[in-house]
Amino acid sequence: MTAGTKRKIVVSTIAEAEFYADGGFDDIIFASPMVKERISKRVISLATRLEAFHVMVDSVVGMQGVIDTPLDGDKKWNVFMEVDCGYGRTGCVWDSDDALMICRKAAAAEHVRFQGLYNHCGNTYVPDKDQKSQIQLTTVDRLVELKKRLEADGIPVPRFGCGSTPSCSRPINNMGVLTEFHPGNYIFYDYMQVLVGSCSMDDIAMKIVTTVISHKPEVGTLVVDCGWNCISQDGCERPKDTLPLGYTPIVDHPELRMRAMTQEIGKIEGNGEAIDYSKFPLGTRLYLYPHHSCATAGLQPKYYVHSGDKILDIWIPNRGW
Ligand SMILES: Cc1ncc(COP(=O)(O)O)c(C=O)c1O
Repeated sequence: MTAGTKRKIVVSTIAEAEFYADGGFDDIIFASPMVKERISKRVISLATRLEAFHVMVDSVVGMQGVIDTPLDGDKKWNVFMEVDCGYGRTGCVWDSDDALMICRKAAAAEHVRFQGLYNHCGNTYVPDKDQKSQIQLTTVDRLVELKKRLEADGIPVPRFGCGSTPSCSRPINNMGVLTEFHPGNYIFYDYMQVLVGSCSMDDIAMKIVTTVISHKPEVGTLVVDCGWNCISQDGCERPKDTLPLGYTPIVDHPELRMRAMTQEIGKIEGNGEAIDYSKFPLGTRLYLYPHHSCATAGLQPKYYVHSGDKILDIWIPNRGW
C-alpha cells in the first residue's frame, strides 16, 4: 500500500500513529480535527520524534490551539486544514472566511509548517454513477478553487488531496490534479462497497467464520454464533427494507438471509424459500461477508491471514485510542 516505503499513511487514532511510528513509519497524518485539549504528551512526542507527523485542523480555535502549544527547539508543527467540500461531517467549509483565516494563521505562525488541504468526500457513498461523478467533480473543483484563493493570498499549498473508497475505486479524470488520495476501506472492501459500485463480491478480503448452533424450524430460522458484537450492524439500519441479503451476506448461500442479530447470536432465515435444514447440520461452518468491514475489523482481537484452507499468519490489530 505504501509502495515498499514506510511513508505516507493516514491514521485516525493516536494509538495507530504510535504503532506505525514504533514500526519505523514516518510522514503520518492524524486525520481527525485537532483542538488544544487533544494535544497530549503522546501527540507532542510523535510530533517531536517523527520527521513528518501531521495534524489536521478544521477550525480557527483548533489552529490557535496548535499555535499556542509550540514544540521544543526548532521543531515545527506540520498542519493540514480539513476542507468540507459538501459532505458536511467535519472540515471547514471550502468557501468560508474561516478557511482563509485558518490558513493565514498557519502560514504566519513561526512554529507551524502549513502542508495543505485534506478532504474526505464521504458523500460519494452513493450507488448512482452519475451522481457519484458529479460529487467527485464538485469536490475537486472546490478544492482547486480554495487552493487558488490561498495562492492568490500568498499562501503556498504544496499538498492537497481527497479520499474515500468509492471515489478512489472509481476515479474520474479531474482527480489527476490532486497530489494524493487517502482511502481506507478499500484494503478489505465489504458488502456496502458492493452496493455503491466500488467492487464486486470477489474483491471482499474479509470473512467471519461462524458455526450453526441451533435449528428453529418452528420459527423458520437457523441460529449461528455471530451477532453484532462480532460483525457489527453499522450501515444496515433498515435491512428489511433496503438490504436483500439482510445484515450480512452469507458466502455461497444466496438462498439464506441474516434476518436479525443480538449480541452473540445471528438469526438466519430462508431468502424466499424455507430453509432445508438437512443441508446445514448443527456444527456447520458458514462464512459471512461484513456489511462494513471497518466496523467488523475494529471488533476482532485477531485476524487469520489465509490462502484457501491454509492459515499463513495471525495478525493482531492495533486497537484503542
Ligand atoms: C478523515 C478520513 N479520511 C479518510 C477516510 C477513508 O475513507 P474510506 O474508508 O471511504 O476510504 C475516512 C473514513 O472515514 C476519514 O474519516
